[in-house]
Amino acid sequence: MNARKGLSPGATSVTSRTAPTRETPSAIGAARPSPQPGNIAHPVPTRQALSEAAAGAVRDFRFTDHDFERVRRLIYREAGISLSEAKRDMVYSRLARRLRALGLDDFGAYLDRLERDASEFEPFTNALTTNLTAFFRESHHFPVLADYAAALRRPLSIWCCAASTGEEPYSIAMTLVDKLGDSGYQSRILASDIDTAALGTASAGVYAADGVKALPTAQLQRHFLRGRGAHDGQVRVNDRLRGMIEFEQMNLVAERWQAASRVAPFDVIFCRNVMIYFDKPTQARILARFAPLLRVGGLMFAGHSENFSQMTRLFRLRGHTVYERVADASADRRGATVT
Ligand SMILES: C[S@@+](CC[C@H](N)C(=O)[O-])C[C@H]1O[C@@H](n2cnc3c(N)ncnc32)[C@H](O)[C@@H]1O
Repeated sequence: MNARKGLSPGATSVTSRTAPTRETPSAIGAARPSPQPGNIAHPVPTRQALSEAAAGAVRDFRFTDHDFERVRRLIYREAGISLSEAKRDMVYSRLARRLRALGLDDFGAYLDRLERDASEFEPFTNALTTNLTAFFRESHHFPVLADYAAALRRPLSIWCCAASTGEEPYSIAMTLVDKLGDSGYQSRILASDIDTAALGTASAGVYAADGVKALPTAQLQRHFLRGRGAHDGQVRVNDRLRGMIEFEQMNLVAERWQAASRVAPFDVIFCRNVMIYFDKPTQARILARFAPLLRVGGLMFAGHSENFSQMTRLFRLRGHTVYERVADASADRRGATVT
């Protein structure tokens, strides 16, 4: 993981800003691209999306049907990501940068190298993940979390399993502290993702000030430092909030989930907007593996277009894309349920 980049020399706590009007929940919840170059899925075409579309027209490198099939097979094998035919230009555009960096002039040569050299899988996977996220994205989940935490009356253990560039785990942490006060800092959050570059950004906790402009002033003052000088226009999450979170690289389709198994049982799992990249059998396998890691009565938050109701009897729909872990008689008999 990348070393943590600090704003400390010129940082001040966030005090002098014009009072923001809290945007409507949907505006706050709307996905906004984070300041790293892997984001494309935005309703307004981003520069990257436009260049990906343009890549379809003008290509520097030969990219055959066979090459695209190889990429699809390899990213499915490595990360469980199912790429549709519609992603062809996106794949070209993102991997073309890798070919340039390596001085290769042919996709076939790049893919041969990838299959020979296991260390290339990290940049390959980082290039093909989509990291779109935002602070308080799908904002209706956070009051549910706050009420759940208040009712529990003890520190929580939370896993955010597709944390991307960190806006989601920091939103979780802010929710706990804002609801519970100082005792909120005792909760622990495991923030994992397959993408090491995204996790580097998450761990640094430095964001464009634009990305937090919809947050209320009190929340900004409590949890962020404003950058000065070279860091003008940026904010950094303060150390106390960041101290609640452990960042770990974890692949949801890997055979072992070491960090999650070490920290479990969890009270809450955030698994939002990542299952959409997986096919149904992969989703079902992951859900089955979540179950013993989540306490009975614990909550799982899913993304807006993810529906697991028909897939498992271990999670009961409790609210809009919020599931509750329920006891399973057969698993209990085997002693597999964590309570
Ligand atoms: C669209 S982002 C969602 C971020 C955040 N959960 C949210 O809802 O705002 C999807 C994230 O899933 C991660 N991801 C994709 N495949 C993964 C895998 N096999 N294991 C873990 N994370 C994965 C990507 O790297 C990316 O950061």
